[in-house]
Amino acid sequence: MGQKSIPRSLRRTRNHWERLASIDPFWAILTDPNKKNGGWDKDAFFQSGVETVDDEISRLCARFDDVGRSRVLDFGCGVGRLSLGLSRHFDHVTGVDISARMIDLAGDFNCHPEKVEYVHSPCSDLRLFGNDHFDLVFSLITLQHMNRRHACRYLAEFVRVTKPGGYILFQMPSRRLPEKSFRLRWRRRILRSIEWVNRKLLVDRRPHFEMHMVSESTIRQVLTGAGATVIDATRNSGSGERYLSMGYLARKEGGGRS
Ligand SMILES: C[S@@+](CC[C@H](N)C(=O)[O-])C[C@H]1O[C@@H](n2cnc3c(N)ncnc32)[C@H](O)[C@@H]1O
Repeated sequence: MGQKSIPRSLRRTRNHWERLASIDPFWAILTDPNKKNGGWDKDAFFQSGVETVDDEISRLCARFDDVGRSRVLDFGCGVGRLSLGLSRHFDHVTGVDISARMIDLAGDFNCHPEKVEYVHSPCSDLRLFGNDHFDLVFSLITLQHMNRRHACRYLAEFVRVTKPGGYILFQMPSRRLPEKSFRLRWRRRILRSIEWVNRKLLVDRRPHFEMHMVSESTIRQVLTGAGATVIDATRNSGSGERYLSMGYLARKEGGGRS
């Protein structure tokens, strides 16, 4: 896949993740301040993925008895934390990521190669997959790290690659939460402006976490426009305490359900 096929803004996102993956991949994925500089224990890190997935999938299957278990897509799979958790529930898991380094690491940690495959996808869509392919598209703490135009495009792609009647489960922050006090609000604004200027002037070349938000109404519009019904939009804690994060569950139209 040539460089030219990636829009510039996405190339920047990709480069950041490549660097983060080379420096401290577990911490780049789960930014617990106590686990910086290689502080994550590998087993604890992957166990967190198993617990998150068990929780999401058991809630989904308790509500709906028609969840297909053949194929699942883990979009933004990183080193495979959630993909390995998904392999306990599905026959075949495909993890995709924009970072080649993340995909290499995911391959190194893949203890179920018979069920789990990882694919490098440096593109702004899911052209690697045909229509109606997956029973479930799953994506946590990923869409928030790219600009909203790309996030919305991927959402429409999620619908395209899902089987009719299949499910789409993801998380995305809808807005920044206000700081508790006026002083903190201004402090945060000034710090953000300084960071922005430093990055623009290339004074600060450290990889950083882009955070983007998409309103619930826009998400509903994109999913509906692409042919899915939004079942749930519920508040969760997936984006940390500064953002109002929402968990979405949608079903692609067709497949015998109205
Ligand atoms: C915070 S990590 C989350 C990884 C995984 N979802 C988890 O929870 O363990 C975000 C991942 O999304 C990937 N990513 C960012 N933009 C992407 C894109 N446009 N397409 C695919 N992956 C992307 C990054 O490379 C990174 O591995």
